[in-house]
Amino acid sequence: MSERNQLGPEGGRTAGDEAPAYGGFEIVAREDFSDQTFRLDIRHPLLAKAAQPGQFVIVIVHEHGERIPLTLADFDPVAGTITLVIQAVGKTTAEMQRNCHAGSRLLGVVGPMGAPSRVTDAKKVVCVGGGLGVAPVFPQARAFKDNGAYVIGVVGFKNKDLIFWEDKFKTACDEFIVCTDDGSAGIKGLVTEGVRAAMARHADIDEVVAIGPPVMMRACAEATRTEGIKTVVSLNPVMVDGTGMCGGCRVKVGGKIMFACVDGPDFDGHQVDFDDLMNRLKRYAEEESLAMERWSESCRQSRLTPASGPESRLPAVEPTPLAGRQDA
Ligand SMILES: Cc1cc2nc3c(=O)[nH]c(=O)nc-3n(C[C@H](O)[C@H](O)[C@H](O)COP(=O)(O)OP(=O)(O)OC[C@H]3O[C@@H](n4cnc5c(N)ncnc54)[C@H](O)[C@@H]3O)c2cc1C
Ligand code: FES
Repeated sequence: MSERNQLGPEGGRTAGDEAPAYGGFEIVAREDFSDQTFRLDIRHPLLAKAAQPGQFVIVIVHEHGERIPLTLADFDPVAGTITLVIQAVGKTTAEMQRNCHAGSRLLGVVGPMGAPSRVTDAKKVVCVGGGLGVAPVFPQARAFKDNGAYVIGVVGFKNKDLIFWEDKFKTACDEFIVCTDDGSAGIKGLVTEGVRAAMARHADIDEVVAIGPPVMMRACAEATRTEGIKTVVSLNPVMVDGTGMCGGCRVKVGGKIMFACVDGPDFDGHQVDFDDLMNRLKRYAEEESLAMERWSESCRQSRLTPASGPESRLPAVEPTPLAGRQDA
């Protein structure tokens, strides 16, 4: 396969890349929700046509970049675009926050990956998004609504300034509950307060879908366990290839080993071993902080060097070591 074919359909400059690009996928819009979280719309007509709720993509920002999984937060087959909502938590996501703007390109966007969410015939569903989790749970809420379910949306944020997609999410809901940790909007407390409020109002909830940090998904699963309400969570272990080959995304569900990238990412929340998931997420903390330090240093140096091109151009960065991530 030629390099051009591997990289994408069109020529152009990749986001933050120092070298000329031979392909890539154009970012057509960006919106910042907070100093950490932002939305990118990317032109990718084939992917937009094939995408289903619950699926994700693997993104490679530039030729030295690592592969990171990001959930399809929306997709528009008519416009030929997909939407990603990203939280800058480490080197690659911080690099995207700095360099991805409308008009720039991502070198690789591979997908849709993972098993689509099962949109059952449930009559009443609670869709719960914690922080960034609001974005990936949205397509599921919309799919349940389109399927005729009564949808109760529960979203949780630290404070009201971090709330995003409230109006968009409401379009997929019959009821909508906002929770904030500090009480600056909606119910004061964690999303579990919203889930309990929904359970108190409705004795006939068939299913809960919860997406967010593992600790939040575990709390939601515990909140519904005694009532025996089916609870689906979307797991986010470290992934490398996203195709079931490396074993990096191994999770324990119902005592069995599963690969989140192909067997999930959706699983029965009452069966997930969340302690194992959280321990595995910490495994590469040292490599992750080293990669971030190296990248921050290279950004600092680039500001000292007289500019020889566009301001956003970065010096070459060493790829984040992936080898350690592969021996799962
Ligand atoms: C199926 C799936 C869907 C995801 N969807 C989104 C999304 O829509 N938006 C979003 O902002 N983030 C999403 N993530 C998490 C995102 O992939 C990580 O935040 C990203 O890989 C971190 O890379 P980094 O270099 O910026 O940070 P790093 O410094 O590498 O890591 C920072 C944190 O992210 C975790 N992490 C690192 N690499 C991965 C990885 N390959 N997979 C999962 N977690 C990782 C680490 O445990 C650490 O806590 C998703 C993860 C999975 C598995
Ligand atoms: S990311 Fe799932 S097996 Fe490699």
